[in-house]
Amino acid sequence: MDIEASQYHTIKGRKYKIAVLSGDGIGPEVVGEAVKVLKHVGDRFKINFEFKHALIGGAAIDHEGEAFPKNTLETCQASDAVLLGSVGGTKWDDLPGEKRPEKALLALRKGLNLYANIRPAIMYEALKGACPLKAELVPSGFDICVVRELTGGIYFGERGTRVNATGFQEAYDIETYSTEEIRRIGLEAFEIATKRNKKIVSVDKANVLESSRLWRKEMDILSEKYPEVTLEHMYVDNAAMQLIKNPSQFDVIVTSNMFGDILSDEASMLTGSIGMLPSASLGSTKLGLYEPIHGSAPDIAGLDIANPIATILSAAMMLRHSFELYDEANAIESAVEHVLKAGYRTVDIFEPGKILLGTIEMGNQIVKVI
Ligand code: IPM
Ligand code: MG
Repeated sequence: MDIEASQYHTIKGRKYKIAVLSGDGIGPEVVGEAVKVLKHVGDRFKINFEFKHALIGGAAIDHEGEAFPKNTLETCQASDAVLLGSVGGTKWDDLPGEKRPEKALLALRKGLNLYANIRPAIMYEALKGACPLKAELVPSGFDICVVRELTGGIYFGERGTRVNATGFQEAYDIETYSTEEIRRIGLEAFEIATKRNKKIVSVDKANVLESSRLWRKEMDILSEKYPEVTLEHMYVDNAAMQLIKNPSQFDVIVTSNMFGDILSDEASMLTGSIGMLPSASLGSTKLGLYEPIHGSAPDIAGLDIANPIATILSAAMMLRHSFELYDEANAIESAVEHVLKAGYRTVDIFEPGKILLGTIEMGNQIVKVI
């Protein structure tokens, strides 16, 4: 533990400004625990974290009339990092696409130019029993890093509805990728791979989609610059199958916005629960967005049963990627591992014989061991 390195920031008067966007559903509960953990890390390592709350999603619609108020983007832009809960819920499901809470999240990612979404899916030794696969399929566990393109593709392509030639209404969403977009996400994946097991699987649908064929070509070009990294291409349908057949074969997965959305949910379930997976969304500056990969789960909101670990681990990613506070990030991650080893569980990862905790108590246990 390198307390001196951390104190350095305080001695130099370094403050870390964190924009906190709790959002909807279980968002405020899980973010509350992550903020609690960060405050504790601040006290323990003598770092000055400053939190500024802003509204996003349904909460912003209810209070300010729009899902992504201008001052929310400004608060984020004036911060060193953004911590986000989740957006959306049945209450706002009937709004038109442009006004939906989810649109705010997409606008935030785009507005901060956060094109690289890092979603690590790690099997914790203590959670082996919560993995839905037969134990013999995962003898050595897995440590997968999904690198999802986040500001392009079908999420941001042209869309609309129209009446076709035969008089029927039709809707369309277009998937577009430029070489620039492919190269920068590819570069991110190759850089990450050099620090890991030097193996990338690029996931596409090049047997059907033109955008995937360009994706594949650009990944091949990039790989020439990284002879030490092995690049394999895999169709997305096969990747979905391979993930449940032999997840240990994967190290880094790089893929498009939509394929990454789907495969990261699948990968999360292999870890035991979607409540375990953090994410970091990064661009070309240090300002990153950190959020659990799960949604707002309105059905369990306010019940103090949601798993706060994905958000707490997202806070750890923030310390590492935006602030370069490595010891502090490690302290949070070790604390999570420790608490799981000690048998504490929220209901989503509960197994008989373990100790069932609510959201707040889980946060408290993690704080206790940092
Ligand atoms: C995610 C979520 C979002 C996405 C939704 C809420 C718009 O599913 O972060 O994975 O599709 O990106
Ligand atoms: Mg998703």
